[in-house]
Amino acid sequence: MNTDNNIVVTATSAAAATAVAVVDTQEKTNPVLEQQTTTNTETNNTTDGDTTVTTSTTSTTTEGVEGVAVVVELTKSQKKKQVRQERWNAVKDLKKAHEREKTKEKRKRKKQSMSSEERLELNRVKMQKKRDPSEIDWWGNIIFDFQHASLMGQREIKSLITQISFAYGNTLRLERPLFMDFCSFTGPVKESFEALQGYINWKVGRHEQSYMDLYKKEELVYLTAESPNIIKELDPTKKYIIGALVDHNRYKGLTYNTALEQGIETAQLPISEFIQLSSRKVLAVNHVFDILLKQTVNNDWKKSFEEVIPSRKVAKEGEEDGEEGEDQSGQDGEEQDSNNINNKEKEIEIESNTNTNNGKDENTTTDSLTTKSIE
Ligand SMILES: C[S@@+](CC[C@H](N)C(=O)[O-])C[C@H]1O[C@@H](n2cnc3c(N)ncnc32)[C@H](O)[C@@H]1O
Repeated sequence: MNTDNNIVVTATSAAAATAVAVVDTQEKTNPVLEQQTTTNTETNNTTDGDTTVTTSTTSTTTEGVEGVAVVVELTKSQKKKQVRQERWNAVKDLKKAHEREKTKEKRKRKKQSMSSEERLELNRVKMQKKRDPSEIDWWGNIIFDFQHASLMGQREIKSLITQISFAYGNTLRLERPLFMDFCSFTGPVKESFEALQGYINWKVGRHEQSYMDLYKKEELVYLTAESPNIIKELDPTKKYIIGALVDHNRYKGLTYNTALEQGIETAQLPISEFIQLSSRKVLAVNHVFDILLKQTVNNDWKKSFEEVIPSRKVAKEGEEDGEEGEDQSGQDGEEQDSNNINNKEKEIEIESNTNTNNGKDENTTTDSLTTKSIE
């Protein structure tokens, strides 16, 4: 075993073998420093299942320079494993590059087939996204209430973030967008948003405080499927609240009861007045937001519902507007909506990479993704 300025690892597991990979040759190339070296050697033997790791550590200090050389001895099967892993990584990289190329081509083809009006519209949207929030003619405010976010698991948080990302992309396409105001925005959900590429540039409100501390009670309307009040018209002077929650029907009536306790107005969307749903009337966060968004333009609830609610949710003849959440597939609607969006996450990752690689404005990352959801 080599103990001279080296850490020698003999391992029968790939994990142990790949744990060391650094060779610092700094002092080896400096004979003057080599002469002034002091060496301490420590040897450890660890046995973990079928893995034996012998570590001999020599720390060498040469006038403030720490030098460590590493030699890794791999068994035959570990070498094979390593080769397989490297091959797999190369295939993965190729696949990713291919997907990126395909997306680029698709976008190019789409641009080429656009009419001049569509091109003008695209440019208008691009300009809008670059504008300062104070220059935008916002239609009104929609509050996203994160106060119940601790009830969500990591997967649900991820799903919520995807939904809100789509909603964000859609609002900024409008001439008069809806401003998204995040309240009680703290903890893991906030951290997960912050890890999202491009999020830092989002034109949204971010508050740790509750909407109760920020706005007058009379301005607030909590949108909740359980409310006995049915919304007739959208009022731009009101601040509508959406529960920022993916709960797969676990907490039925949660936001309604919260609003009741806080003494603020509640309302449900007028779904059953205009369309028949095959499942219960609790919609996913992004669908509620998109319906409001469409309604600001259409001023026609039926049209707005039809443009947003997935056709599989609309009841066929003979089906009733059910109370409980599961449809024929055994999944509740919110789960299916999340799944549909999550299926696009692959595209999201690829798109983000593309944009980063092209060195484009970070803000375009999410926006171009969200565009996909409505195409
Ligand atoms: C997936 S739901 C969350 C359901 C949750 N159990 C609750 O108590 O609100 C997400 C949010 O969308 C809004 N929402 C969903 N369906 C709605 C409807 N039919 N009318 C009004 N708001 C709705 C509510 O703000 C709700 O909190």
